[in-house]
Amino acid sequence: MTENGKRDYFCGMNPSSDTLGTDLDKAVAILRAGGLVAIPTETVYGLAANALDEDAVLSIFQVKNRPTFDPLIVHLAQSTQLDLYAEVPSETAFRLAEHFWPGPLTLVLKRKSMIPDVVSAGLDTVAVRVPNHPRTLDLLSRIDFPLAAPSANPFGYVSPTCSSHVQRQLGEKIDYILEGGESIIGLESTVLDLSGQSPVILRRGGIPEEELEEFLGKHIQKTLSSSRPGAPGMLHSHYAPRCSLHTYTGDAWRNLVLGLTPSQFSEAYWIRFSHELADVEKDRQLVLSRTADLSEAARNLFSAIRTLDDKGAVAIYAEKVPDTGLGRAINDRLTRATSKK
Ligand code: TXA
Ligand code: MG
Repeated sequence: MTENGKRDYFCGMNPSSDTLGTDLDKAVAILRAGGLVAIPTETVYGLAANALDEDAVLSIFQVKNRPTFDPLIVHLAQSTQLDLYAEVPSETAFRLAEHFWPGPLTLVLKRKSMIPDVVSAGLDTVAVRVPNHPRTLDLLSRIDFPLAAPSANPFGYVSPTCSSHVQRQLGEKIDYILEGGESIIGLESTVLDLSGQSPVILRRGGIPEEELEEFLGKHIQKTLSSSRPGAPGMLHSHYAPRCSLHTYTGDAWRNLVLGLTPSQFSEAYWIRFSHELADVEKDRQLVLSRTADLSEAARNLFSAIRTLDDKGAVAIYAEKVPDTGLGRAINDRLTRATSKK
């Protein structure tokens, strides 16, 4: 979609600079020296450091202002590395890895001791995935250590889906941003915990649960509540903009409008799934997918929230999308974005 210029609606391209570009040698040198590099992935941009270097990993937490009780995902070059960092992965883990990697599925497995405590927030598990982005896979193939990388945003804020998002918020604090265009999925990976008796989805994301259930041939349990210790990605207030965000379904926007003063109404911004509301000014609305395509809506969601937040919106009213497939992950992010910090 970059070709027809439509992407600028959500995500402007970033001019090159010393700290942003496609120089893999530079990225490798920084990571080897214990520095931080933002990496493109198909889901969102990550803030990467050598996962085996405790000090480097600690600096990720500092830069993001992330509490150290929130464990990080370890990014591998290929699925065959699974048992280098995870303790005796089950046959199910190998099958899932072989089928879904590289891709937006994170597996939580028993941790090998070579992964430092700080990566896993002291848990006896480690979250691993192989990201599906050619430049980041190239980078991973040039280093002999895995990359710990949370999403490259200040803790609690919306995840970045292009390099300009990272540059604006963290540009001053990190060594390099590897340019990789816009993230094609736009939502974080699905987190599947395989460390217990049966698989549990801890976070909805880029692989819909229906697809995992079909692959495994069984229903998968979900633990998506905010009460789960050690997994704040599931906290209610997460992925949240500075402004207030409210969600609604279908015609319920009419009730929302009834509760607004005329000046609140005239200042409100709207995120719509597939078409504008006729009764609201067009330039106060962003449409996620004119063809009602959930993949396109997912790709555009975080940029849409950022665009409006950066405009200084006071309140955003976002329409929920159909609650199926990727739509569930979109609705999950919208719900979490509603909680004011
Ligand atoms: O798509 C993604 O997953 C992106 C890209 C960069 O890979 N990363 C990402 O990282 O979203 P982060 O840190 O923003 O979210 C990681 C989630 C958190 O909710 C964390 O609590 C959970 O994974 N997690 C990590 N390790 C875990 C573990 N050992 N047990 C349970 N949950 C874990
Ligand atoms: Mg995150």
